[in-house]
Amino acid sequence: MMVAHSIFSLREELRFYVRRYAPDIDSFCGKALMEDHQTAFIAPQRLKGTEAFLATELLTSELSRPVVEAVRSAVNDVCWRQSYGLDDANFDQDYLDNYGWFNLIAPSGPFISDSLRLSIGFWGQGLHYPHHWHEPEEIYLTLGGTAIYISEGRASVEGGPGTTICHYSNQSHALDFSKAPLLVAAFWRGGELEAKPRL
Ligand SMILES: [Fe+2]
Repeated sequence: MMVAHSIFSLREELRFYVRRYAPDIDSFCGKALMEDHQTAFIAPQRLKGTEAFLATELLTSELSRPVVEAVRSAVNDVCWRQSYGLDDANFDQDYLDNYGWFNLIAPSGPFISDSLRLSIGFWGQGLHYPHHWHEPEEIYLTLGGTAIYISEGRASVEGGPGTTICHYSNQSHALDFSKAPLLVAAFWRGGELEAKPRL
């Protein structure tokens, strides 16, 4: 099975955005974003959170809109997943019905990299992503909507389309979606790239 055209288009839109508008992310990723990745077919999967994403109008900017549109076009070709379940504190059914993410670049594919993970995540308005941390360093790139980014050791930042937020290895952080939903690209490097964050 081949990796769908829409997934290639989404990678191109993100590369274009990063190359022109996000030099911090470009240098964070090094070659791992722009290289000619091997691919792995991953069976598509939709979640309730996928439907919630499709039903949500997101604030975008002129610059981020093409990326958000590329995400919408790839919705049926990617594998939507969740890191948490009902066994995790602070995650209930309403949370799980309005949230999801998929990998674009990761050790497991669809674009294969051992040194970079790029995933796209959606959270509906009203949710709160409690404090969590992970070994990989991270940069969030806000694509659509707005979040209040709460990071240990610094003042909270309310960020809309184009806002980037960095976390060092194991820096605790939380996200507040009380004001708006969020579509975000998360870039990870170093450490165990596909491990579940700790809560
Ligand atoms: Fe994170």
